[in-house]
Amino acid sequence: MEFQPVTLAPGAYSGDALLLGVFEGELESALASLPSEVIATVKEVVEEEEFKAKALEKIIVRVSGGSVRKVVLVGLGASDKVTHESLRQAAGEGARALKTSKAVSAGIAFPGSAAQEIVEGVLLALHDDDRFRSKSEENGGVEPKKLTTVSVLLESLEGAEAAIRWGLAVADGTIFARELVSAPANYVTPMYMADQAVAIAEAGGLEYEILEREDCEKLGMGAYLGVAQGTDMPPKFIHLTYKPADGKPRQRLAFVGKGLTFDSGGLSIKTSEGMKLMKVDMGGAAAALGAAKALAQIKPDVEIHFIVAATENMVSGHAIRPGDILTASNGKTIEVDNTDAEGRLTLADALVFAEKLGVDAIVDLATLTGACLVALGNDIAGLLSPDEALAERVKKAAEESGEKFWQLPMEESYFESMKSVVADMRNTGSREGGTITGALFLKQFVEKTPWVHLDIAGPVWTEKQKGYINRGGTGFGVRTLVQLALDK
Ligand code: BES
Ligand code: MN
Ligand code: ZN
Repeated sequence: MEFQPVTLAPGAYSGDALLLGVFEGELESALASLPSEVIATVKEVVEEEEFKAKALEKIIVRVSGGSVRKVVLVGLGASDKVTHESLRQAAGEGARALKTSKAVSAGIAFPGSAAQEIVEGVLLALHDDDRFRSKSEENGGVEPKKLTTVSVLLESLEGAEAAIRWGLAVADGTIFARELVSAPANYVTPMYMADQAVAIAEAGGLEYEILEREDCEKLGMGAYLGVAQGTDMPPKFIHLTYKPADGKPRQRLAFVGKGLTFDSGGLSIKTSEGMKLMKVDMGGAAAALGAAKALAQIKPDVEIHFIVAATENMVSGHAIRPGDILTASNGKTIEVDNTDAEGRLTLADALVFAEKLGVDAIVDLATLTGACLVALGNDIAGLLSPDEALAERVKKAAEESGEKFWQLPMEESYFESMKSVVADMRNTGSREGGTITGALFLKQFVEKTPWVHLDIAGPVWTEKQKGYINRGGTGFGVRTLVQLALDK
């Protein structure tokens, strides 16, 4: 799909369809430039269908006498409540109506300068993941019409090219993450993840290294390799580095993603219900790599390390047992109380690796605990950090990006429940406050670098289609990471 910024009034656009964003009570100004007979027809349908321009409300109107076949109105809600996110959602909902209208070319006009939100909303809403469907014989083998040319109608072209470029990059990274999460574990293996990471690096000019099992052994990554010993798939420890071209990064960041391509629970095996969706357990890694893909195109003036300790958590004769003691790469020993608390074991060594790079801040994303789903539901991720300043920064980036997080306390006293009789710690604590104990465990592997932990077990996947969101992997986290890399 192509996006062209143009300074045209909607009435001057010629193509298949027009998509107009309308604030409540501002229909007149949205329609003003259209020919009077088109306005009359649109108003007729507005009355007929009681269109009030409430957020995400939409109507499709067949018109004649103008230079388009269809006019689509999408509600933007009250103008004093507008956010980047509400515009992005509306663009997504509007794009669905363009698809219904069979438009191949469309002009999109929103009040103000919403080019980036339009690009993101349209691309994400129309993203159709058909990788695993056989080609259907419907339509007698004829490809259905697809939206290919979008003219973004603007009052001024100032900043428009950049806004569209950013929108394209962010959507590209998010779609990459969605597809990685949605693909099954017999497709997305640790090897596949490593191959994808290398492809991103080669296309975007990033440095990369893939550490094999022996490399990880040399680094003493006993916690990560403990999890990896239960599967026949070789572990892949992925490390990409983006550096600004001028060699003068404003700061240095590390984004660490949990990369369990499948989590059976190991010998502390999950129920079949609990295991059903565990292909999503690499959602943190998908977000980190998706951000790498986007940032390689946006080229910020910061250095960023993308780190994933990829493996599977499987049941086998060589899997770790409850009671086994593992030694992480910082020398700390862990009694494996529950082999299903595997994400924190892999992250332990990934965090130690990140800190050794001497970065200014570390952010990890992980589908770490079912408890976070219980606490915050499907749409909100948990945010935990011992560093209030960095927590604020991440919250601000999240707000800009429209991704929802809620901060939970790092209640140190809860770590009591993770004390082991025989080792430095156990890998699980009390059932209560499971998201907090998960974060407290990870904290044992970050000595002094400001660090934020994001538990994305809820929003990594959705069964609801809404706005620009489709069923399946959501790509959650990509936009917050991109925003964080760009903040000043
Ligand atoms: N990958 C799961 C967490 C999860 C659950 C992600 C549901 C997405 C949806 C994680 O590895 C896990 O199994 N966590 C355990 C921790 C427990 C054993 C301390 C859990 O949440 O039950
Ligand atoms: Mn698990
Ligand atoms: Zn897991």
